[in-house]
Amino acid sequence: MRKINIGLSEEARNGVCDLLNHDLADAYLLLIKTKKYHWDVVGPQFRSLHELWEEHYQALTETIDSLAERIRALGGYPIGTASGFLKYATIQEHQDDVPGANEMVARLADDHEQVIRNLREHVDACDEKYNDQGTADFLTGLMEGHEEMAWMLRSFIEGESLKGDNSTTGKQAVSVN
Ligand SMILES: [Fe+2]
Repeated sequence: MRKINIGLSEEARNGVCDLLNHDLADAYLLLIKTKKYHWDVVGPQFRSLHELWEEHYQALTETIDSLAERIRALGGYPIGTASGFLKYATIQEHQDDVPGANEMVARLADDHEQVIRNLREHVDACDEKYNDQGTADFLTGLMEGHEEMAWMLRSFIEGESLKGDNSTTGKQAVSVN
């Protein structure tokens, strides 16, 4: 095999690939959970959520491919088994339940926020520990995508909580964030 000479040690590349495999595993689980809720959701916001989650799982599909291909570009191998994804993921699966729409949204918002916190740490590690500016930049872009998806999900729940609470105006609720 041809030696990789891109200014990163093998140790650094291995370290970065390990971080990327964790992000890949989380993205895969999030894809599965998003797709399941896209199928299962019912209620007055069915169409909005059904379509939002279709957009999200399409974005996650691209994320997954980019993560796996970046691992290959650094000389590593992406996880490619369901058991491997479960072992490496930091977010949790929920077995055999069909929650209400709000709970679905809350769970996915929590998952995206977990992924964002992980990515923030991984960006710092790539930059400061491994001196891999390319991956730091790549993961920063992914983090921004998750931040947008988390915002969209939180917006559903925040809209719900305003109902029946006349003391809270929309303006005040927005300014909390
Ligand atoms: Fe669909």
